[in-house]
Amino acid sequence: VSFTGCVADNGTADCGFWLSPTLKTSSDGEEAQISYLANTDGFTAYAESDVSGMKDGDVYLNVDLKATAEIPARVEIVYGQSGESAAVFSEIRIGTEYERYSFRTGNSLSGKSVSKVRIYPSYNALSGYGIVFVKNLTYTDYYETKFYDVKSVSDDDQNGGENEPNVPVQVDYLHEKYAGYFKMGMCAGYNDYGNYGDLEAHYNSFTCENEMKLYVIGQTEGRYDYDKADRMIRYMVDRGKQIRGHTLIWYNGAPSWLTDCRDKTQLLNKIDTYCYNVVKHFKDTFGGSVYCWDVVNEAISDSGGAYRDTFYGVAGIDYIKTAFRAARRADPNVKLFYNDYNMDDRVKRNAVIEMLRELIRDGVPIDGVGMQGHYGTYTQANNVEMAIAAFENLAEETNHPLEIHITELDVKNYENSDSELERIYGELFEVFRRHADSITSVTTWGVSDEHSWLNEVGKGNAHPFLFDENHNKKPAFQAVFDF
Ligand code: G3I
Repeated sequence: VSFTGCVADNGTADCGFWLSPTLKTSSDGEEAQISYLANTDGFTAYAESDVSGMKDGDVYLNVDLKATAEIPARVEIVYGQSGESAAVFSEIRIGTEYERYSFRTGNSLSGKSVSKVRIYPSYNALSGYGIVFVKNLTYTDYYETKFYDVKSVSDDDQNGGENEPNVPVQVDYLHEKYAGYFKMGMCAGYNDYGNYGDLEAHYNSFTCENEMKLYVIGQTEGRYDYDKADRMIRYMVDRGKQIRGHTLIWYNGAPSWLTDCRDKTQLLNKIDTYCYNVVKHFKDTFGGSVYCWDVVNEAISDSGGAYRDTFYGVAGIDYIKTAFRAARRADPNVKLFYNDYNMDDRVKRNAVIEMLRELIRDGVPIDGVGMQGHYGTYTQANNVEMAIAAFENLAEETNHPLEIHITELDVKNYENSDSELERIYGELFEVFRRHADSITSVTTWGVSDEHSWLNEVGKGNAHPFLFDENHNKKPAFQAVFDF
């Protein structure tokens, strides 16, 4: 099936916006192309594809998109047949590399099968000629993902109107609000991951608090315990979330079969085997749902930027290189990160940057840097911004793209000041949005004030999150959501 026409809201067949749209479709996994020519006429045009047969419980539509030049776009999920169209839609930015977008289809409309998915590249932001590429239109139910062809463009649009599609805007959730910026992530542990049924729709990324760590999976050499991680990930993937893998090699809690090894070659072998097997397991079990790994966590100490001795004392920086290379061998597509805290501290950050420079120089496969983001109401947002800029500069200087993830955001707020928390979250997210070209994911290290590692350090409840103990939105939520 191919695109044979184009759709223009002014009702003419002559569509200056979509120039001869050609959707070369598209069996499973193949690519469809829609070419466009931007002009100055005021009408809206879109490409659409039929999707039918979704059932209750099919919650997400997923599609891979890229374009010849980055453009904002609106993606609508339209329910029912013509005339009874109810829709949800998301604002996204289509980048120049393929990215999978997941669109929540909206519980209020369950029972109605989805009729169409429409893509409206933002007319106002386009110039000249370009192509949007589409592939892998799928829907996700609780147990499996079904593949659909991206099919056709229709010519029966009756919306009318000016530059915008004539459908109601409905953005309820954080990740929808941030769709054009970065993923929004939550973290939870085995004891609480099922507790956020009312809040989890805000997030499209999930991190296991401890269950993918070396001390859980790899307590005994050669015997991998994936049980908890697999359960948690299955649950979250079924709810449309992608997974941040955290973390492969971390000195904290590392079992003695690794920490007691004093022979460099043996240690590197052990690290290689562990990283390869673990990354492979999650790739084989969950496909692309585990989208990144913190391959090495906290290699740099707080004292003057020295390397922590564990592993480094035996193998030097080679232990880090070995871990990244093994992870890449196991999965050519998963994004590989170095993750650390206090990146707003200049001395520590510079040590991390030196390390990254060495990895990049040596051709080690590294895709990004995780800034943990354990902050307090005292944190200076401009220091955080300086850290982000420093990593952006490194990427530019080395000509090596680096994504930035904010991986473990929380804000110590033991005095429980709603207004201070609101201020700092507002400032931080303003910074994050300003750097959305490099920041691709922001995760809070918990969800609601009822559970945080900070609450366990003997100082009482740190009140660090956007939701209080009863899952109510705090003013800080509004500071993040309203912009
Ligand atoms: O599950 C056991 C339980 O059986 C036992 O009775 C209890 C008694 O100590 O311990 C429980 O395990 C604890 C585990 O959390 C689950 O609650 C560990 O002792 C405790 O050390 C562990 O703490 C975690 C910590 O990392 C160390 O792994 C925190 O939950 C987790 O929030 C924290 O997360 C780290 C990131 O991974 C890396 N960056 C810093 C961040 C905060 O420390």
